[in-house]
Amino acid sequence: MMRIETDVTRLLGIDLPILQAGMSWASSNAALPLAVSRAGGLGVIAAGPMYLDALEEAIDTVRAGTDRPFGVNMPLYRKGAEEVLDLLEAKRVPVIIASQGGPQKYLDRFKAVGTVCIHVVASETHALKAAEKGVDALVVVGGEAGGHPPAELVSTLVLIRAVALATGGRVPLIASGGFADGQGLAAALALGAGAANFGTRFIATPEAGVSEAYKQAVIGAGVADTRTVGRGLGMIRAIANPFTDEMEALERSGADEDARRAAFGASTLKMAAFDGDMARGKVEAGQCAGLVRAILPAAEVVAEIARGYAACRQALPEAQRVSVAAE
Ligand SMILES: Cc1cc2nc3c(=O)[nH]c(=O)nc-3n(C[C@H](O)[C@H](O)[C@H](O)COP(=O)(O)O)c2cc1C
Repeated sequence: MMRIETDVTRLLGIDLPILQAGMSWASSNAALPLAVSRAGGLGVIAAGPMYLDALEEAIDTVRAGTDRPFGVNMPLYRKGAEEVLDLLEAKRVPVIIASQGGPQKYLDRFKAVGTVCIHVVASETHALKAAEKGVDALVVVGGEAGGHPPAELVSTLVLIRAVALATGGRVPLIASGGFADGQGLAAALALGAGAANFGTRFIATPEAGVSEAYKQAVIGAGVADTRTVGRGLGMIRAIANPFTDEMEALERSGADEDARRAAFGASTLKMAAFDGDMARGKVEAGQCAGLVRAILPAAEVVAEIARGYAACRQALPEAQRVSVAAE
């Protein structure tokens, strides 16, 4: 198996700088994270929508299936967050990837049991704050991302570079948003990250826990087919459908917050992921859905990204040739 060593692979004890992003529903199971961790990346269980017993079972199943590390994504705002944190601490999960809240809520207790603590940020300010608190690494999410992109939609290309410059190598970075293949991984490493986080790409796998219609929508979408809707309400990026049309119409017409909130709240990710309602559900996905063309087993996705990375590196000009050309 191929190995690509970076500060992130060393921190996590994995072979490849490929993280499968925590995605509610899509990775709220054991199958997807297990397949990715077995293949040499880091599989991540998304605890967001999971009941405690289902989460515990998924952790046990991944552990039984591999000796390799895996992670749990923990949105700190979720209902019953304290009980979930208690479970994750008791289970001594190898890696926690926390989003939507400050690291002080979990850092000391998880470090004490040997869990690697990674925090999700979407701005330079939050990156610096989390680094100061002592997190082990940061996931930095740019505007292309599916799910919840940053409010100002600063692109991944610019944000990763800005955070790399601001943090100056003090904390390993994982670039998130818009990465679908080995070329994307090479770009992430070139910008100063030690790994890339792949969300949308892993929706198009048999292991992802979303409806078949959702997977088809991802592989059918072009790069311009997502919309960002729900500004100020927990904005999402999702594949355009009658629900996003309605939100855009409300936003354009200057509808008051109550009306926008009602329309936004009437649609859920679960409707798309679980019920397959492609018209009224939130079909959350990133712009890179337009780069995803087939449903492939997760292990093949990992291998393809690694192969693409190697091919991309070979195809890049040597520094020597660049300097000759510049003379
Ligand atoms: C369907 C879906 C669900 C998501 N759920 C979560 C979540 O529960 N917690 C979280 O921190 N991020 C969540 N995200 C964001 C991802 O972790 C990741 O940052 C994003 O998918 C990266 O962008 P990409 O889709 O372009 O790869 C979700 C993204 C998608 C597409």
